[in-house]
Amino acid sequence: MTDRRERDQHSGTETTGHEWDGVRELDTPLPRWWLYIFYATIVAAVVYWVLMPAWPLPNGYTKGVLNWSDRSNVSADIHALRAARGPMFERLAQASAAQIAADPELQQFARAAGEAVYGDYCRTCHGAGGAGAPGYPVLADDVWIWGGSLADIEHTLRVGVRSTHPETRLSMMPAYGRDGLLSAHQIADVTEYVIALSAARDRLDPNAAAAARGGALYQEQCSACHGPAGAGDRAVGAPSLSDDVWLYGGKREEIRRQVELGRGGVMPSWASRFDPGTLRALAYYVHEMGGGEPDAPAPATPTQ
Ligand code: HEC
Ligand code: HEC
Repeated sequence: MTDRRERDQHSGTETTGHEWDGVRELDTPLPRWWLYIFYATIVAAVVYWVLMPAWPLPNGYTKGVLNWSDRSNVSADIHALRAARGPMFERLAQASAAQIAADPELQQFARAAGEAVYGDYCRTCHGAGGAGAPGYPVLADDVWIWGGSLADIEHTLRVGVRSTHPETRLSMMPAYGRDGLLSAHQIADVTEYVIALSAARDRLDPNAAAAARGGALYQEQCSACHGPAGAGDRAVGAPSLSDDVWLYGGKREEIRRQVELGRGGVMPSWASRFDPGTLRALAYYVHEMGGGEPDAPAPATPTQ
């Protein structure tokens, strides 16, 4: 290898002076534009190191003079949001139903906050817009198991149904079939009687003789909870049997299954999850879905 710099005859470019077996290396200069961009990136990197978090250190990292941190930014944002919303949640938690009814700003806030929380925590069971699902009651209608006033709904949310909360709403329909309390014949008879009581009678055409036999059984076994005429009892969460709305389905077979199994669905308690303002917002949102009842003096127990 020789080391002579000279000008290449063909391209007019200088050679580096390196030569391998007669092949000489041209020393073509880098294009100007490329060089400038290259220098600019170096300058930008140095500026970035100075301004932003960049280099790891044994005890952390260089913070940069801007003191930028995504984590502290997010928590500052959340703080600001809480601070902005806090007074509204506070106001909502303190307000009576009548005060909310007279305050459009509070209503709008409750509706928006309730809808957001509903989507995250309730929709999985109760469906979009409170449409319900088998075993999970429709919230958008005016049929209530435990009560449909703002206070009733809020109480249900706070303590849950058959939940782990010490004050949970609680009642258990016996599993008449599974636990052998009634025979299959008796269950078939009482099912016909329930159908005859209900608004499903036109749809399902109950067997008159069986319903007559079931009537006595019903008064003996069922009326304590569901009422002598099937009006239901909110004090024990026994649904009305006189309408045509069914928690576990309204086919003859489905009604009979509930008498056999007495399922006892569980609604979690939300008292420890949400602050009082959020609970109030949720209750307001559910109350507004369609079937909310006026607050007082809605009777807790329908009279027969
Ligand atoms: C794990 C499923 C589940 C989740 C999640 C759930 N629920 Fe429920 N909810 C139920 C069940 C089951 C019942 C019916 C209990 C019964 O048999 O009385 C119920 C009952 C209710 C009732 C009483 C209805 C009535 O007719 O009296 C209200 C109100 C209610 N839920 C609202 C909510 C709200 C609001 C949320 C979200 C914070 C929610 N639920 C989340 C399962 C759930
Ligand atoms: C201790 C109270 C209690 C007694 C007694 C009871 N039930 Fe129930 N019943 C309930 C409760 C609570 C539910 C709500 C469903 C659930 O969560 O299990 C229910 C639900 C039902 C349903 C479904 C209603 C719907 O809307 O989907 C039918 C049907 C029913 N009961 C029939 C009967 C019959 C028939 C008897 C008597 C043989 C009876 N029940 C006795 C408490 C009772």
